[in-house]
Amino acid sequence: MNASDPADTPELRTVRTALMLACRAPSLHNTQPWRWIFDGTRLHLFSDPDRLLRSADPLGRQLVISCGAVLDHARLALLSMGWFADVIRTPDPNLPGHLATLEFRPWPGSLNTTAARIRAIRQRRTDRLPMLAPPGWIEVFDAIRELARPHHVAVDEVCDSDRPRLAAATDHATALRRYDMPYQNELHWWSGHSDAKEGIPVAALVSDAEGARVDVGRSFPAAPYSLRRGQLEDQSRLIVLSTLGETPAQWLRTGEALSEVLLECTARGLATCALTHITELVASRWVIADLLPDKGVPQVVIRIGIAPEDTDPVRTPRRPLEEVLEVRSLRP
Ligand SMILES: Cc1cc2nc3c(=O)[nH]c(=O)nc-3n(C[C@H](O)[C@H](O)[C@H](O)COP(=O)(O)O)c2cc1C
Repeated sequence: MNASDPADTPELRTVRTALMLACRAPSLHNTQPWRWIFDGTRLHLFSDPDRLLRSADPLGRQLVISCGAVLDHARLALLSMGWFADVIRTPDPNLPGHLATLEFRPWPGSLNTTAARIRAIRQRRTDRLPMLAPPGWIEVFDAIRELARPHHVAVDEVCDSDRPRLAAATDHATALRRYDMPYQNELHWWSGHSDAKEGIPVAALVSDAEGARVDVGRSFPAAPYSLRRGQLEDQSRLIVLSTLGETPAQWLRTGEALSEVLLECTARGLATCALTHITELVASRWVIADLLPDKGVPQVVIRIGIAPEDTDPVRTPRRPLEEVLEVRSLRP
């Protein structure tokens, strides 16, 4: 793009349309902790420190993972509009919160393998209910592993015999946090309301009776009594995304890989739920790290399965674009 005036240009309209779609990306508690600046030529991604969850995420690890997810969504959304985005993941140290810059050029080529993931952006939802086992799992697992590989993010499956350890780590995390008031206040602030633009609405949460049938899941404020998916006990598969280290660059890449994995699963008709309640606490993080063949740093666990057709997944709200996109030059 070579527009010098960032007033209402075709380029800006493209950016706006692409970001409207990209902001469907998942984020911790639907905080949507990202900001974009379009300078008329390039699109710059920043994290939003006002949306840091100080108790659940004191280092901002999940804040950056969430930004990585929106970055990958933005790349795909631009591609769907005929623009190939080069992602420059070298933050400018003079710009606080700067994470990456997208430079784009026309892309006359076909979308090939990405088309299904682009379509999946509108369909993907976090599903916290019990799931059926995913069919054709070996093929699915190989595909998502390949998608994460370019981001240097490892994908490992939690085998059936190790699953009770994650369930126990879940119980432990829940118990540790039951009386952690800063954590509980934060959780209740961001979930269980019907805010029009952020947070997790009550309809996307599960009742106690439903949550009791999912062995590995974050404990949210319970939704009113309901018994969706009958007597189904969770049969999902669990995978772990991990990195070799613990740097913001690796967190960003984790978010990009998370986006690819969730969208690929959605494109294949599978339900997903990203989980980090057990990677937030040192003790439970060690439990997961111990299961990984390469002893990497566990970042995100994902439940993957089939949602029976008896329930419509809930579409969570998003902030208006004006709140997350500024059109101006980077420096005054
Ligand atoms: C970094 C990250 C961590 C998340 N952790 C959890 C979690 O521990 N438990 C959970 O149920 N959902 C988790 N989610 C899913 C978010 O709550 C969800 O993406 C958000 O509410 C928006 O809803 P949607 O995914 O349906 O669009 C996480 C998402 C991200 C990106």
